Amino acid sequence: MSIVEEVEKASQFLKDKCKQTPEIGLVLGSGLGVLAEEVEDAVAIPYSDIPYFPVSTVEGHKGQFVIGELNGKTVAIMQGRFHFYEGYSVKQVTFPVRVMKALGIHSLIVTNAAGGINQSYQPGDLMLITDHINNMGQNPLIGEHSPDLGDRFPDMSEAYDSRLIQLAKEAAKELGIEIKEGVYVANTGPSYETPAEIRMLRAIGGDAVGMSTVPEVIVANQVKMKVLGISCITNMAAGILKQPLTHEEVMKTAEMVRADFIALVKSIVAK
Ligand code: 6GU
Repeated sequence: MSIVEEVEKASQFLKDKCKQTPEIGLVLGSGLGVLAEEVEDAVAIPYSDIPYFPVSTVEGHKGQFVIGELNGKTVAIMQGRFHFYEGYSVKQVTFPVRVMKALGIHSLIVTNAAGGINQSYQPGDLMLITDHINNMGQNPLIGEHSPDLGDRFPDMSEAYDSRLIQLAKEAAKELGIEIKEGVYVANTGPSYETPAEIRMLRAIGGDAVGMSTVPEVIVANQVKMKVLGISCITNMAAGILKQPLTHEEVMKTAEMVRADFIALVKSIVAK
């Protein structure tokens, strides 16, 4: 079956499960899934129930779609995403983005936990992604193409929508939340970087580094969704502080930032 047909079947399944038509999509990164608990009149659909969906394996990732109302808007939340490092192909990783488009979603908010490369950052900072560097050596659009997927050669010159960035900055200001802006670099992981790799990523213009988001954003641009990206700087990248990096620190900081993160995203959704 073609990917277009699979997307059609998966989205039809979700449409049958819930009568609401979501207009905003959210992808919640490591430790940030709690936002889904704020959704009212929520219908939760485990990924494992959805035809052609890959199945999530990693701890800390719930693996379900939550569709409902958030601050007066109908949203579809991915509580947990698929990562390339889990062994999924980047086509599998980005399949849900195509499904969200088929549900009628026009704007996508992608979030992640990331390591700070920019030395003016500190753990607990939130960063609006202004642009990205695909350092994964992968692209979800490689392979057979159909015009039904979108452009063969999508423009990426404003991959993150400037209007949404402006709106997010206004929301942060109103809430008194300090917010950084920067370039997100995606590596495959799952090992963290070496100090030499972090110096290289800083030299090429990276401000934060993570293991996700870029494949989803490439597909979102192909299907012409407006994208907003928010990184939670959970730790400084290797070689900046004299301490090792741990997944525990990532989860702990994400938990610390939770209240600000939830308030910010809810306000952005309302706007
Ligand atoms: Cl330092 N690197 C990568 N690749 N992903 C991360 C991270 C660092 N911190 C959180 N996620």
